[in-house]
This record gives sequence, C-alpha cells and structure tokens, in this order.
Amino acid sequence: MVRQRVRLPGWHEQALGVLAKAEADGVRMLEAALPAIADSKLRRIFLKHIEDEKRHTQGFTDLYRAYFPNAELPASTHTAVSTNVLEFLAFLEITEVRGEQMIENYRELYAKYPDVQAFMASVLRDERYHASYLHAQLDGLASQGLENDVRAARRAALAIDTQGFISQIFSFVRVVPRLLWHALRAPSASRVSQT
Ligand SMILES: [Fe+2]
Ligand SMILES: [Fe+2]
Repeated sequence: MVRQRVRLPGWHEQALGVLAKAEADGVRMLEAALPAIADSKLRRIFLKHIEDEKRHTQGFTDLYRAYFPNAELPASTHTAVSTNVLEFLAFLEITEVRGEQMIENYRELYAKYPDVQAFMASVLRDERYHASYLHAQLDGLASQGLENDVRAARRAALAIDTQGFISQIFSFVRVVPRLLWHALRAPSASRVSQT
C-alpha cells in the first residue's frame, strides 16, 4: 500500500511527520506501561527502550522540520495499553516486529534521501533489538511455567494487531481517489510538456 502512496507529490516529506508521530506514540505507550513493570532487570531494559524511541522521535522530527520549518507535527496520540504485563509485552512484541518491517520497507523508498536512509539504518538496528529482546523475554516466561498465559497473551495481541491492519486498509482506501487522479493527470501533463 505504501508503494502506491509514494507516488503522491510530497509523500516523502509528509511521511517523516507520520514516522515522528508513530515514534512519539511508542514513547507514550511505553511510559504508560512502565509503572506495571516490577522486575528490576526488565525495567532497566525498558528505560533504555524508551530512550531509543525518544531518539527516533527526535530524529524524524528534525528531518521533518528541515522540510517544513513552520509546520505543526501531527499530534501524538495515546493508545490505551493492557495493564496485564504479559499482554502488554506480547502486544509490544508485535508492534516492534511491525516497526522493523515498516522501516525496512520505507528505507528503500527514500533512495533519493541519503540523510533519511542513514538515520533509518540506525533506527532499524534498534527496532531489531527491541523485537528480539521482547521475543526472548516472552519465550523465557513461557519456559518458566507460564506457557499457557504467554500463548493466550500472544493470541490477544494478534487480535488487536489484526484490527489495526484492517483500519490501515480503510485508510488506504481513502487515498485511492487522489492516487487515481494523480495517475490520470501525470501522463497528460507529460504529453503537454512534449508539445
Ligand atoms: Fe522506534
Ligand atoms: Fe522500537
């Protein structure tokens, strides 16, 4: 879906604002969950995770501001998270894998923006680490006798993720008229310029 949207004029610049917002949403979600994390080792990892997401937010914000010095950034929103730590970790596990895939795809689309690509490479390293520590954490808890709880938490997280995916499809449908308009207009514009 992103590969279609990328044809819209100004997409690359605008998408930096969307990425900054997504990272800021992540910070808010992690900070909201922090009080429920009792394990001191996991808390330390979580604090480092929050620092990483703040760095990502700042980096995408700086890049967006470079293109739109006076524009408002899309406002960060807060997603209500489960107060059940296992469910939250399972949800975060999926979110991080999705984030990793998203940055991987986006990086290719910014071939003409080396500054953005370089920053995305460092973000990608962090997202891979986040996904792998969460995966290991949940697998570790499963092997300590919580197998059924971890399985149930992962199932619940997957259901929430599927809802999110469906709403993404609806948001794509909303831009289809603009994509069509742009696709139909582009060839005629080039024909005019050739005459
Ligand atoms: Fe991030
Ligand atoms: Fe992350």
